[in-house]
This record gives sequence, C-alpha cells and structure tokens, in this order.
Amino acid sequence: MSTLEAVILAAGTGTRMHSDRPKVMHEIAGVPMLRLVLDTVRSLNPGRIHVVVAPGQSEALAQITDDDVQFVVQEHPSGTGAALATAIAAIQGDPELLVLYGDTPLLRSENLARMCKEKTAGTTSLVILTTEPEEPAGYGRVVRDASGNVLRVVEQLNATAVEARLREINVGSYLAKKSAFEGWLNKVQPNDLNHERYLTDVVALAAQAGGKVAGLMLEDTKEAMGVNDKAGLAAAEAEQQRRLTQVLLDAGVTLADPTRLTIRGKVDFGVDCQIDVGVVLAGPLHCGDRVQIGPYCVLKDCQIENDAVIEPFCHLEGCLIGRGARVGPYARVRPGSHLGPAVQVGNFIEVNRSSLGEGTKAKHFAYLGDAYLGRDCNVSAGVVTGNYDGQKKSDTKTGDRVFIGSNTTLIAPLHLGDDAYVGGGTTLTRSVEDGQLVAEKRAPLKEVSRKRLERLRARNVKKNDD
Ligand code: UD1
Ligand code: CA
Repeated sequence: MSTLEAVILAAGTGTRMHSDRPKVMHEIAGVPMLRLVLDTVRSLNPGRIHVVVAPGQSEALAQITDDDVQFVVQEHPSGTGAALATAIAAIQGDPELLVLYGDTPLLRSENLARMCKEKTAGTTSLVILTTEPEEPAGYGRVVRDASGNVLRVVEQLNATAVEARLREINVGSYLAKKSAFEGWLNKVQPNDLNHERYLTDVVALAAQAGGKVAGLMLEDTKEAMGVNDKAGLAAAEAEQQRRLTQVLLDAGVTLADPTRLTIRGKVDFGVDCQIDVGVVLAGPLHCGDRVQIGPYCVLKDCQIENDAVIEPFCHLEGCLIGRGARVGPYARVRPGSHLGPAVQVGNFIEVNRSSLGEGTKAKHFAYLGDAYLGRDCNVSAGVVTGNYDGQKKSDTKTGDRVFIGSNTTLIAPLHLGDDAYVGGGTTLTRSVEDGQLVAEKRAPLKEVSRKRLERLRARNVKKNDD
C-alpha cells in the first residue's frame, strides 16, 4: 500500500448534544473523543493526520491534540462528503486515505489494520467497516446484492421501509486512494431531503465504477457506537468503562463490583490490589502491590505505594501515599502532599502541600497546610496550621518525634525541633527548640458555687419555656 494519511471528520454542528462545546471534546472515560480516535489512528503510523473542524474550533481542539495533527476548516456543515472534499483540497500527492468520524470513539486499531490489509491484498478500490447491532436505527444501512457484494449505503432518512429493516450498518470508516475519493466525490450531489452531500454516496459510485467494495464486518458491534447525543455519550461511556475495568480484572485487581468503579485516564495497579464499590480513579494513577481502596473514594493523579490502605470516603489528589500508610476514612489529601511510609491520617483530616515523615500520625480532625513534619510525630485532634495570614502562605516545619497536643493552632512560620512537645490548647506563635515543652498559660478554672449554679439552671429552664 502506498503512503497512508488519515482524515477525521469533526466539523458537524453536533446540535443533538445541546452543548456549547465541540462534540468531539466531550469525554469518554476522561478522554476527549477526538483524542481516543487519534490514538487509535496513530497505531497505524499514518504520514499525516488531518482533522476537519468547524470555523472557530481549531484553537480549542489544538489543546487536546498533538503537533502531528493538521486542522482543515469546513466553512459550512454541508455534509460528510463535503467535509472530506475540504480535507482532500489540502492534501498533497495521492496517498491512501483512511477516513474516520470523530464521534466514533470506540473503534479498535485492529480493525483499522484489517482495513489496510484488505486494501493491499487485491483489487479493492474501497474498504468500509460494517456491523450488525441489535438496534440499527439512526445508522446508514449497507445494501448488498444476492452474492453479498456491497452495492451502496442508504441513510436512515432516505431509506425505504424494506431498506430500514436491514440490520447491517455503515460504521463510518472508509479507506481508498485520495484520487479515487476525489473522483467519486465530484459526482456526489446534495441530498434532496436535507441538501447535505453524503460521504456514504461514494460507496455506490465505487461499486458502479466496477471496483470491488469490501465491507468488513466488526464482530463487536459496540465498536461502531456513534455518539450523536448525551444518551449516546452515556452509552459509549458505559462500554468504555466495561473495557477498562476488564483490563484491571485481567491484570488481577479484585473489584467488589466492576459496574460500580469509574476510571478516567490511565491507571495501573500491582498485584493483589482491591477496590471497593463507588470508587472514581482518575489518571495518571500508579498503585503498587496489595493496595486497598475502600468504598466511595476519589483518587486523582496519585502514586500509592505497596500495602497502603485508603479507607472509605477519601479524596486524594496530586499526592504520594507511602508504603503501608493508612488514610481515612473521610480524609482529604491535596496536591503537593507526600505521606511517608506507615503514616496514618485519620478522619476529617485535610493535608495540603504538606509532607508527613515515616510513622507520623494525625488521626482525628486537623488541617495541615504547608507543613513539613518529621518522623514519628503525633498530631492530636483539632490541630490547625495557620499557614495563611491573608497575604502570604508560610511553612510549619518540625523535626522528628514531635508531639502536638489537641486543639493547638500553629501560627506559621514556625519550626519545632526534634522531640518538642506542645501542650493542648496552645496558640503557638514562636518556634520551639529541640526537646522543649511549651504550653499556653491558661486562666485558672473558677469553681461556681452550688447556689449560683441552681440560679443559672432555673434561668435557663424559664428561658426555654418562653
Ligand atoms: C453517519 C453516516 C452513517 C453512519 C453513521 C455512523 C453519513 C451521511 N452518514 O451518520 O451512514 O451509519 O455516521 O456513526 O455520513 N461532519 C463533518 N461535516 C459535516 C457533517 C458531519 O465534519 O458537514 C462530521 C461530524 O462532526 C461527525 C461525522 O462527520 O463526526 C459524522 O456526521 P454525523 O452528522 O454524526 O453523521 P451520522 O448522522 O451519525
Ligand atoms: Ca454520528
């Protein structure tokens, strides 16, 4: 086969999505549809990839594509045939063109490779992909003759009652020489009903010209799913989730319920990991061996090392969780945080841009922001770092084995030396030396006389009666 170039059509109005975003920007498993199609196409190593876009969309789409993509603008959405003609005008030489739709994100690269193989094999002038889904409504139908030769594709809108009963559909992937497409497209007339120039009309023109049209059938009909509306997007999402969870199962991850796990982007797991229900994993996420993730956790862009346990209802983002660490339940670990080995972060703890050294514990509600704690420290309940004075953020740094008592506020910048001990209820505004014990001077507790107590009680009862 001579050189291969790819064309992806993505200039349709996408009206049925009811969205201000270009249709191909909508995400499936956290990845824009266009990216999925591009990744599939790239496996064939095409010389160039051309993406046909609507006016004003190149900038947004350039953010989700790489430099190997060239955008061609289709001024008016006058049909898929017109879209390909626009791309062809910008293509040099006479390469083989693989034409795909940007809204068909689940196609597998093996089937595109099959198309190329078929094209090289014989005298085929056009290769298309077809399949027989349970529900063919909405798709173009493939008409074959009695011997099974592909004759044409008829759109649902233009189909007769008999044609509409055909189950074989046009997937929307085409492979032919650029010059062949050009010749056929010159003959494609606007459709009577909606005035669009259909790319699908090239099938009949190729068949009439005497060349062989190969209709390769997809075994997995789900690959053909075209996303035209939000229901289609949700259906494609469900299928992609099924595929991604299957990859984890195949790699040996234990899933409490594969239908109640959501994966977005790239995730990988070592051996003997377990994931409970309701978890959302957003890549890049690397988990070591024997990691356990409890129910209803959201993990994004994290590295979780061997034997770490994430208890239920945690939210972790942009952080590293060390070997054997225990997080949650109900913990939030924010970007730039680093929990060392065997660290324990319990319930209602927020850790933000902070690092906790090996064995350090913060087990009950606390805020640690811009804090760098050494090893084996103890952060008691209600400890808060005052890291922001309204203008700038400051750090709290500690040595090892530091004890911070309950309900302590650490007004940063601060440094606590090794073995420092801060008594409960302290508002600490200055640094503490190694081994030093500090505690807030408290007002002495006053005992209240029984008589006064009774008077107070009586007043309260009366107040509540009013
Ligand atoms: C199309 C096919 C249909 C096939 C189905 C598979 C045609 C006429 N019909 O129907 O046979 O079964 O896909 O999913 O091709 N686009 C442009 N410019 C335009 C119009 C569309 O670039 O002027 C792009 C769209 O952005 C989209 C793709 O082409 O990515 C397909 O267009 P769409 O309107 O979704 O076609 P379908 O009605 O789904
Ligand atoms: Ca479509």
